[in-house]
Amino acid sequence: MKITVVGTGYVGLVTGTCLAENGNDVICVDIDQKKVERMKNGEIPIYEPQLDVLFDRNIDAGRLSFTTSLHEGLDHGEIIFLALPTPEDEDGSADLKYVLGVAEDIGKYIKDYKVIVDKSTVPVGTAEKVEQTISKFCSSEFDVVSNPEFLREGYAVEDFLKPERIVIGTSSKKAEDLMHRLYKPFVRSGNPIIFMDEKSAELTKYASNSFLATKITFMNEIANYCQIVGADVDKVRIGMGTDSRIGKRFLFPGIGYGGSCFPKDVKALHKSGQDVNHQFKILDAVVQVNEAQKTILFPEMKNHFMGDLKGKKIGLWGLSFKPETDDIREAPSLYMIDKLTEAGAEVTAFDPEAMPNVKSQIGDQISYCEGMYEASKDVDALLICTEWSIFRTPDFKKLKAEMKSPVIFDGRNLYEIEEMTEAGFRYSSIGRKH
Ligand code: UGA
Repeated sequence: MKITVVGTGYVGLVTGTCLAENGNDVICVDIDQKKVERMKNGEIPIYEPQLDVLFDRNIDAGRLSFTTSLHEGLDHGEIIFLALPTPEDEDGSADLKYVLGVAEDIGKYIKDYKVIVDKSTVPVGTAEKVEQTISKFCSSEFDVVSNPEFLREGYAVEDFLKPERIVIGTSSKKAEDLMHRLYKPFVRSGNPIIFMDEKSAELTKYASNSFLATKITFMNEIANYCQIVGADVDKVRIGMGTDSRIGKRFLFPGIGYGGSCFPKDVKALHKSGQDVNHQFKILDAVVQVNEAQKTILFPEMKNHFMGDLKGKKIGLWGLSFKPETDDIREAPSLYMIDKLTEAGAEVTAFDPEAMPNVKSQIGDQISYCEGMYEASKDVDALLICTEWSIFRTPDFKKLKAEMKSPVIFDGRNLYEIEEMTEAGFRYSSIGRKH
């Protein structure tokens, strides 16, 4: 099928590349000329496991191309995906200026039937707004469909190619048939394509992310309580998770969720509720508890150094908001860097992918190291903010020998307490007996 994807951010690029991988003829449109030039030269602008291989393969096969011309894109695709940014407005709501701007251009230009697909995470009622905007300028036939994405950074290719479910919101039979034809090859395993109305599809996305954020936040509160009463949250987590109604996933406590999705989506749903006089009291609490969770290790570190971090050297493992991504948006590491450097500590950091992004955001406020052991060399304490696999099984002997003092603050509960005690570390983690 002929597909156009407008917007080559994270979602757009994964969508376009994976649809091309399945044999579709895909054009991706972006207004950023430099980025489009780079992509035309085979340079991929984001880090995402497996995506580079698919990207190269489909460009070489002539199924994936890039343009800055929206008109070229609109001529090409029978299905037009909108994968545009919906940044957080000052009041927490999602700003639709990019989505509605492109909708207007579509309305002015299209001459034959198109299915316009909202792929961006957008508030309930956006498909309706897109439809009204296009209609204002357009006499040709078209349908607007809501098709939220459920891609996890780091696993986006896998999630796209083998989705657990695909949600499609449309009230048009014609659009439903086209979307079914497009997605059928991705659900050969029998996973469902769930059709519903546009508003329910839009809300499914917000409700899913908000629920997951709530699940994590609930566990963070349980963890903090465990710490006070002397219980072990890892035991509690396993005990709870084996109940299939609860499930094992997304029960891992830590120093708060981050990223580009959960923080933004929870706030946007909360704000959408307020707009119609519906108070999401739970989401209010989730936002507050998560903000507080990002701060919980700092006072502990400060206490360890008798209130004075001035001149202390702190190693930092992990900068991205989670493993397998270079994304640092709302990353707890950034909060910790701010607090530590403000208190006069010197931070030496290592992350397998995110260092360039941190450097372009905060510059030389910290030192960037070539490897994990370089970051922990001669430090007064080591702080772990992201659970990258390589941090899970360090050479503890080497680590201890090279650190100035064997002190670890672990925001992701990577190690067993007994092994750390045996190895001679002063070890602190989240919600466990120490
Ligand atoms: C999330 C959703 O998982 C995707 O389904 C969704 O499509 C995506 O947002 C989106 O809206 O685009 P993502 O932000 O990539 O994906 O990351 P997750 O793996 O969900 O992790 C989110 C945050 O929760 C991370 O900061 C992670 O460290 C934290 N987390 C996750 C925990 O603290 N504990 C857990 O048990 C799981």
